[in-house]
Order: sequence, then C-alpha cells, then structure tokens
Amino acid sequence: AVPDSLVVVSNREPYSHEQDDDGEIQVQSAAGGLTSALDPVMQSRGGTWVAWGSGDADMAVADEGIVEVPPSDPAYDLKRVPLSDAAVQGYYYGYANQVLWPLCHEDTGRIWAEPAYWEQYRAVNEQFAEAVDTVADAGQPVWFQDYHLALAPRLVRERRPDATLLQFWHIPWPAPSVFRHCPHSDALLDGLLACDIIGFHTAGYAEQFLHCVDSAFPAATVDTDSGTVTRDGDRTRAVANPLGIDVGGVRDRARATDVASIRDTVLGGSRSDTSIRLALGVERLDYSKGIPERIEALAHLWDRRPDLRGDFTYVQKASRTREGIAAYRRYRADVVDAIERVNDRFGTDDWQPIVYTEANLDNETLAGLYRAAEVAVVTPHRDGMNLVAHEYPVACTDGDGALVLSELAGAATHLDGALTVNPHDIEAIADAIERALELDEAETSDRLSRLQHSVETLDSAEWVARQFSAGQSL
Ligand code: G6P
Repeated sequence: AVPDSLVVVSNREPYSHEQDDDGEIQVQSAAGGLTSALDPVMQSRGGTWVAWGSGDADMAVADEGIVEVPPSDPAYDLKRVPLSDAAVQGYYYGYANQVLWPLCHEDTGRIWAEPAYWEQYRAVNEQFAEAVDTVADAGQPVWFQDYHLALAPRLVRERRPDATLLQFWHIPWPAPSVFRHCPHSDALLDGLLACDIIGFHTAGYAEQFLHCVDSAFPAATVDTDSGTVTRDGDRTRAVANPLGIDVGGVRDRARATDVASIRDTVLGGSRSDTSIRLALGVERLDYSKGIPERIEALAHLWDRRPDLRGDFTYVQKASRTREGIAAYRRYRADVVDAIERVNDRFGTDDWQPIVYTEANLDNETLAGLYRAAEVAVVTPHRDGMNLVAHEYPVACTDGDGALVLSELAGAATHLDGALTVNPHDIEAIADAIERALELDEAETSDRLSRLQHSVETLDSAEWVARQFSAGQSL
C-alpha cells in the first residue's frame, strides 16, 4: 500500500519557476509520464519531492531550496537541488545522457565516457543524497527515479541504515554483454543494491538486471524466481511494475477536443480537408526513436502505392531535446533533411506527404491530433515503455485507429492489439502502415478495444501502490 507520506527523488522537477520576458515569474508544470503519475500521489499523501532546480527563478522563490507546490494549492514540499553549470554538463549531458542512456538503449557505439562525467555524476548523486538526508523524516520511504540517480541510494543508505529505499528505472536495462561496456558497471550496481525494491517496466529488464548482478558479484545470492538479491547484508527485490497513463484524463481530453480545428491548424499549408487520411508520430528527437527508418518506410509506401499519394499524409510531431549533445543536434538535422527529401520527391501543389512540427502542443491539442490520426506509428529501436503507445488508443474515442508498434518497445510486452514490427525492417514498417490503412472495420475495432483494455489495466493510479506492495513479501 502507498505510505502516508514519502520522499520522491528525480532529476526533473514537477514544477519550475521561470522568468518571462517582462521579468515576471511564471510557474510551469512538467508534462511527462513521471510527473503525471507521481504528482497526484504526492498531492494526496504529502511529503517532499527532491529534484534539480533547473528553472532560472527556482531558487529566488524557494526558502532554503524548498517551495510548496502546487503553487496554486500547496500540498507538498519541493526541495530543489541547485546544480552548477559544470555539474549539469558532466552529470546530465555527460554521464546520464552520453553513457547511461546509450548503454541502456544498447547503442554502445554512442557511449562517450569522459572522466569528468563520472566525477560529476558521483558528486551530483552525493548532492541529492545530502538533500534527502536533510528533508526525510524517520520512517518516510525514499523513492529514487531513473538513471540519473543510480548512486544516490547507496549514499543515502550510508546515512540512514534503516530507511526504506526504492528505485524505478524508467529506461530499458541492457543484457549483461552490453552492460559490461560500462566502465563503472560494478559501482552502478552497488549503488542500486542499496535499495529494498527496484522497479522496471518489464520482467525482461528485471531479469537482465539480476543477470548483471549475478555476473558482477559472484558472492551475491541471486534468486531469479523471487527476483531477490542478497549481498553484504542488503536484500533487494527487482520487480516488473509497468508504468501506464492517466487513462481517464487522456480520454476526457480527447472527447472534449475539436478535431476539425486541430486538423486545420496542423495541416495548415497542406490540404486540410477532411478526406485526407492521417498517420502520426510523436516523439522527442532522440536517436533511439527510429524516425529515419520510418520516413524511409513511408517513401517506400508512396513509391509502390501511387494511389496513396495525395490521399494520405504523415504528421511528425517532434520535440527538441538534449541539444547540448552533438548526436542529438545531428539527429534532428538528419530527420529534417530526410523529411524534406521525401516531400520534394512526392509532394504536389496541393499535397504535402509529411507535415513536420516542433510546436509545443498542449495536452488537449495532442489528444485531438491522436483522434484525428487513423494510424499511430511508434517504432523506436529500444524504449523503456513508450507512453505515446498508451495514449493513442485511449484517445481514439471515435472507435477507429490502429497502432504500428516496435516489438522492441517496452509497451509491446504489455499491449495487445498493435501491429508489431522490427524497427530496423523498413519494408516491414511500410507493410504495417499499409495494412493499418486497410484494416476492415471489424478488425480495427477488435484491435482497438484490445489495446484500450490493456492500457486500462496499467492505469498510472495503480503504479505507485504496486511498487510499494512489491516490498510486502520480502
Ligand atoms: C524519457 C525517458 C525518461 C527520462 C526522460 C528524460 O522520457 O523515458 O526515463 O527521464 O526522457 O528527459 P530529459 O529531457 O529530462 O532528458
């Protein structure tokens, strides 16, 4: 069961304070899956959320780094950890996103491990541990989130031998043969094994974690049936606890949205009449997302099916991300180039094959876009879960919509009813999109209701309770 109050620790904060052009301080709330799952629990239970104070006015409004949130109706404390520019470079852009991110997405060629990255990662994890030690009451469980905070659990354990510590790893956990690429693999495992419970999106990730522990620490006892590790007096349980979405919220927003006006806005310069069929992709511009292969697949489709030209448009909603890293800047440029090439090749005066937008869409508009699209294409090379794959079927409140889904996304383990593909198989992606456009009504509705049902069973409201109840049988 969910404890009466708790401490959550994450890199990103649920609310940030930024100064606008007129010098006024504005509050922004984070939009991601983590915040939408944890903020309601924190609001109802209370406690403290510890996170990097990344907003430019964050510290100005905080007292000893603490501000009560949500600012409109305070329910819990947000303790902000200030990070220097060097810390952000080394810990966030460096270690977290140039070592751990490619490592866990099994893209080892992109790993770049400068010594300063590791130093800063350690120092920042120490800073987070200190902040936790300042705010945590005795008996309050401490729940760390994600790959930014692999060492902090051990550092808190040293200060609080009896605390209940949890982690949730939101990205994939790699196979042992891949994890070995990391020069600090043992230290990372040691940090995590200070936790009582570690959650992953799938049983496969939890298993791989246990295999990594087994090969790194021969003296540890690893019981793969119960998912427990016993080592040096620590007992840790690795569990599969898939994170879903706020199903009711997405459904309500989709129902309330004005689909016609969203079609007009998004299709803008292109033809916006209601007859044009839409497919949609929504992602951060991350090299794990498989966007170039998808664009190539679309080109194949328009090439072999001229009848689909002028009749079917793909909308790519993209968000710029981690642009302090060259690989991300290059990826964006590659995606934009690829789209331009396809548009030049197939576009006509009144039809644009691919509509690309980096506009910051609010959740209502996004829900409308989902509803307007007949097909969503989610084809990452690797993805911890992927919540777009959850949101899309729920937003299809008109009863039509098909999901093309990479078999290597965590979501593929849990969602029934998608058309699954290998994300590197360009021809298979083209076939799956074509098939999605041609499904008959009965199959569309059968697949969609299976998808909706599987998404409902993973509603984010249950996620927190599941993570805590995993500890009860210990
Ligand atoms: C994705 C991952 C999360 C991660 C987030 C970080 O959503 O699935 O695990 O925390 O990206 O994005 P950021 O903008 O904070 O680097």
